[in-house]
Amino acid sequence: MPPLLANISKTITKEGAKALLVGGCVRDHLRKEQTKDYDIEVYGLESIEKLQTILARFGNVNLVGKSFGVLKLHYKDEDYDFSLPRLEKKSGKRHVDFKVTTKSNLEYKEAFKRRDFTINAIGYEIETKKFIDPFGGIADLDSKILRHINDETFIEDPLRVYRGVQFAARFELDIDTSTLRLCRDMVQNGMLEYLPKERIYGELKKLLLLSPRPSVGFELMRTLGILTYFPELEAIIDIPQSPIYHPEGDVWRHTMMTIDEMAKLKTSDEKQKERLMLAALCHDFGKATHTQSKNGKITAIGHEKSGIAPMRSFIGRLTYEKRLADSIEPLILYHLAPLQFYKSGAKAAAIRRLSTKVDIEELVLLATADTLGRTTNEAKTGVYQAGEWLLQEAKKLGVYNEAPKPLLKGRDLIELGLKPSAKFKKILEELYNRQINGEFTTKQEALVWLQSSSLLAEISSL
Ligand code: CTP
Repeated sequence: MPPLLANISKTITKEGAKALLVGGCVRDHLRKEQTKDYDIEVYGLESIEKLQTILARFGNVNLVGKSFGVLKLHYKDEDYDFSLPRLEKKSGKRHVDFKVTTKSNLEYKEAFKRRDFTINAIGYEIETKKFIDPFGGIADLDSKILRHINDETFIEDPLRVYRGVQFAARFELDIDTSTLRLCRDMVQNGMLEYLPKERIYGELKKLLLLSPRPSVGFELMRTLGILTYFPELEAIIDIPQSPIYHPEGDVWRHTMMTIDEMAKLKTSDEKQKERLMLAALCHDFGKATHTQSKNGKITAIGHEKSGIAPMRSFIGRLTYEKRLADSIEPLILYHLAPLQFYKSGAKAAAIRRLSTKVDIEELVLLATADTLGRTTNEAKTGVYQAGEWLLQEAKKLGVYNEAPKPLLKGRDLIELGLKPSAKFKKILEELYNRQINGEFTTKQEALVWLQSSSLLAEISSL
């Protein structure tokens, strides 16, 4: 219990009220996981203003949620959301359309009924140190079951279907059959149509970044009929693959195995993991349109390129952040390169050139997940030789995480007495190209080459 919270709770108790921890923080505590977000419900205070006065003694109170009965307190690295017990009633089709009524003397059970799942409806009375568990959430956590609380309140927020998907995968829970049925009905009734994309992506991001096996969530989405909202994913179902390279089955099966492989990546760089997980999910989208079967042989020539458009439309369904798709594009475009380079014994120039297109370390991470996300003998060894070879070569060349820096820049041309002009770009490109080819390796060598080349004469005559 953070000391700040213990102090606030004491003050609240002195006012004749009670503070209860509720929701994810209690669940995470019972699952022996760290939490940084605390939700506290305060029972028995006459008004939100009174709560605001109490909290103001402990720090800056953020009032953005005040009209919904929520006050936020940020302290050090932690976020505290204080609220009064409330009843919620859907008032329109949009996700935000809710009528909220706060009621300070609500019974715990009545107040907790508005929550989604039993495991998220466990309270903890801070002063008495007692768990409040009106819907059997602790038993469900123990038996690893995800169960909704109440049909009428659950359907009021269709985002809960996506929440269920990510919780099931993240905490490795079985979804109760009645919950599964309810979620499927909600999908079939079109209730998920009005959800804002960024809220959906918020849940899918947790599925991708926090689950040991995100495939569990995507398989659930398939079972529930949610894939109609993601035609790019639906399109890879039943697309056949060569049984020699993909004994595991169709493109969907392979993609599921690939994301589970990628999920093993340990990194503190959340943005990198997001990019790589999405790249793994989208890497074979092009196979939906570029798979051919001739004389019993299945090929998918060109699927790296044809996968870009569906990847972009898929990412566009999740976020307005265009740069995300930009950062995934080269990974998909070159995902076959490590194997091709290894097989052909690619030379330094080719590897340097590759590093100008894509981050080689990330590319190898994707290609490794792609290779190990199969049931081939190579996958069973757990080692992706082509990737290891490429990484070693890239390290030797110093292009593991970045492309070579140009030896000569525009300012070097100016120092040679040249007047800046449109031709600079062409010359610098030509120089860089030759540098990548290994024709010179130092600035001095580059200058010598330039001075003896016709390029200089060309620009001087301008
Ligand atoms: N909640 C709910 N329905 C929602 C969102 C939230 O019932 N659509 C309730 C749940 O009781 C949940 C709590 O509000 O535990 C806090 O929600 P939130 O912070 O969004 O999620 P957490 O459950 O804390 O889970 P996570 O670890 O994914 O943040």
